[in-house]
This record gives sequence, C-alpha cells and structure tokens, in this order.
Amino acid sequence: MQNLLVTGGAGFIGSNFVRYMLAHEPEIFIVNLDVLTYAGTTENLKDLPDPARHVFVEGNITDRALIDTLLHKYQIDTIAHFAAETHVDRSLHFPELFLETNVVGTHTLLAAARQYWIIEGAFPLDQVRFHHVSTDEVFGSLAPTDPAFNENTPYDPRSPYSASKAASDHFVRAYFHTYKLPISITNCSNNYGPYQFPEKLIPVMIANAVEGKPLPVYGDGMQIRDWLYVDDHSEAIRRVIRGGTPGETYTVGGDNQPPNIEVIQTLCHILDELRPHAPHAPHEGLITYVKDRPGHDRRYDIDISKIKTELGWHPTESLATGLLKTVQWYLNNTEWIDAIRANPEYRAWMERNYAKR
Ligand code: NAD
Ligand code: TYD
Repeated sequence: MQNLLVTGGAGFIGSNFVRYMLAHEPEIFIVNLDVLTYAGTTENLKDLPDPARHVFVEGNITDRALIDTLLHKYQIDTIAHFAAETHVDRSLHFPELFLETNVVGTHTLLAAARQYWIIEGAFPLDQVRFHHVSTDEVFGSLAPTDPAFNENTPYDPRSPYSASKAASDHFVRAYFHTYKLPISITNCSNNYGPYQFPEKLIPVMIANAVEGKPLPVYGDGMQIRDWLYVDDHSEAIRRVIRGGTPGETYTVGGDNQPPNIEVIQTLCHILDELRPHAPHAPHEGLITYVKDRPGHDRRYDIDISKIKTELGWHPTESLATGLLKTVQWYLNNTEWIDAIRANPEYRAWMERNYAKR
C-alpha cells in the first residue's frame, strides 16, 4: 500500500480515515476523490497531518475517464472506497440517486481497477487491493433474540439505501470471483465522531440540544444500533487492507447496543455536565417523540469475532468515552457546524424531513 485512492474522503468517515492514515502510515500517498455533495467539504480536511502526502481531486466516481486518469497518473495500488449517498431518510425521497452513486459508481471503480491492475497488469496482484466500505444495514433488521450479524448472515436490505449498498457489495464480490480482482469488504455498524454531518442521530441531537431545539426521537426510541467510534473504524479498515484475506468480508462493530433513547439521554447528561449553566439544561427536557421512519429497522448487532481473531482488532473506545470526545469536538467547532446549519439547502431538507413527524 503506497499510493492510496480514497473515494468520498471529504465526507465524515472518509476524512477521518485520511487523517488517520496520514498519521499512522508514514510512507503512504493519498489521492482523495470526492464530488463534494451536500455531505462533503474540504473544511473536513483542514487539519491533516503532513498534507504534502495528500492531494484532493474534485470529481465523480461515475466518471470513468477521470478514474482511469487518476489510477495511471498516481500509480494507484490500493483503493479505499467510501463515496456514497448515506442517509436512510434521504434515500426514502431520492432512491435513484442512491442507485446511481452507490451501485453505478462502485461498478465504475471496479471496472477501472480491473482494467489497470488485471488487464494492463500494472502491479503483481498480491500488491493491490480494492477495499469496499459497506454497512451492517445490508443484513436487514434483527428480532430481539436473533443472534448478531456476522459474515455469513444472509442479505435482507429494507431501505433504498441498504438495497443500494447490498447491490454494490454483490458487484464487489462478483469482481473477485469472476475477474480475480483482489477485494475486501467491511460491513460496519453506525459510526460517530468528529465531522459527522448533522443529519445523523448523534450530531442532530448535539446541535439541537445546544440551540435549545426539540430532540426528535423516531417512534418509541427503543431501536437498537451498535455504535462504532470513527477512529476505531479507520484502524479496522487499515488492518483489513494490510492483513485481510483477498475476497473476504469482515463485520466491524463497537461492541455496544444501547437503544436510541439511551444514547440521547447520555448526550443530554454530558451536555448538562459540560454546560451546567446552559439556558436549556437539563437537556433531557428537550426530548420529543415524533412519528417513526417508514420501514425503520428495529435492531442491529454485530459479531466481531472474525476480525478480532484473524486481525487482532477490537474497538478501543467505549460509548461513554467516545460520546464525550464527540460532544467536546462539536462544542469546540461551532464554526464548522454553524456554517452547515446556516445553509438554506440544509435547512430546507431538515424542514422537509421533520415537518410531517
Ligand atoms: P458521508 O455522507 O458523510 O460522506 C460521503 C462522501 O461521499 C461525501 O464527501 C460526498 O461528497 C462523497 N460522494 C457522494 N457521492 C459521490 C460521488 N458520486 N462521487 C464522489 N464522491 C461522492 O458518508 P459517511 O458517513 O462518511 O460514510 C462513508 C461510507 O461508509 C459510505 O460508503 C457508507 O455507506 C459507509 N457506512 C457509513 C456508516 C455511518 O454510520 N456513517 C455506517 C456503515 C457504513
Ligand atoms: P441515523 O443516524 O440516521 O442512522 P441509520 O438510520 O443509518 O441507523 O439513525 C440512527 C438511529 O436514530 C435510527 O434508529 C433512527 C434514529 N433517529 C432518530 O430517532 N431521530 C433522528 O432525528 C435521527 C436522524 C435518527
């Protein structure tokens, strides 16, 4: 792994991954390809360590000519593919966009990698890797006593988002079986941490609580997610790229499964402690139950035995320590979040998403 193409590296997980890799891989050079949708911004890349080993390219993963050029120009031997449309609520309104980016975009990258690495033989195949970042949502929803998702759980996606990620996973595996493209896949649980766009649960709750706005809990708030701190996720991907067997999948999770309401209450308690004199404290008073999301998956849980046993990875952050760090980051980076929250497009979307609830 010398010349790494990261797609979606101006988004939440991608930008944290770029920062993490520059800090932990002294020899690596990173080409960061991102089209800068509403969810991506170069503001997320301002504090990179050793920025001379990073180049940002604004462009679309569906642009085959651009991908071909980047692979050749930078002699890319590794691809870490994050770029995607990622918000379930948006996928309910704009499913075609999810099909285009998540399925067609992933296929464009696969076809370009096959051309450069296999047909042109740019490198020995044991020196290249196409790593696809996917989600546990491809496995569907667990009943209360079902065992946790693992690498053998059958696919059962329920939302346009998870259906598009499932389709992309199948294409990635098909390229391994059909063309021998050295791939790996991680299916991870809900990430949280710095730079997460304020449309996902944790940043929405922090931002609303700081502004004294209602904290909208979908349905009864008893849905369960497994929460993974973003740096733990970056280390998991790094280990899979470095030591994971080509063709294999690894499920990655944070080893905790609280109901949503518990996560929200914990955030409120952290804010009460950090800002005891806030006009809205105690922040739990802002919790408001709203209409549920259609087709809302009830429970996710991840079995991390395979990545633990094969690659020695385990999450280092507990939910309590990870949430504290995250709240502190948002409180210390009000300019970042204020700029997003002032954007008219963002405001229109949030109004639309929450209006009928
Ligand atoms: P994000 O929405 O914060 O960022 C996505 C990035 O991809 C943005 O910077 C956006 O501009 C870019 N992008 C979108 N379409 C593009 C295109 N056509 N061409 C180039 N760039 C494009 O997403 P995230 O939360 O950082 O998620 C990253 C990856 O991790 C996704 O593949 C997602 O499915 C997966 N994942 C996320 C989570 C999570 O909890 N956030 C959990 C499991 C898996
Ligand atoms: P989200 O962060 O959108 O991730 P995902 O849907 O991919 O799991 O939502 C996490 C959980 O929080 C999910 O059960 C939906 C719920 N949720 C709320 O209750 N209120 C909100 O405002 C949001 C954004 C999510």
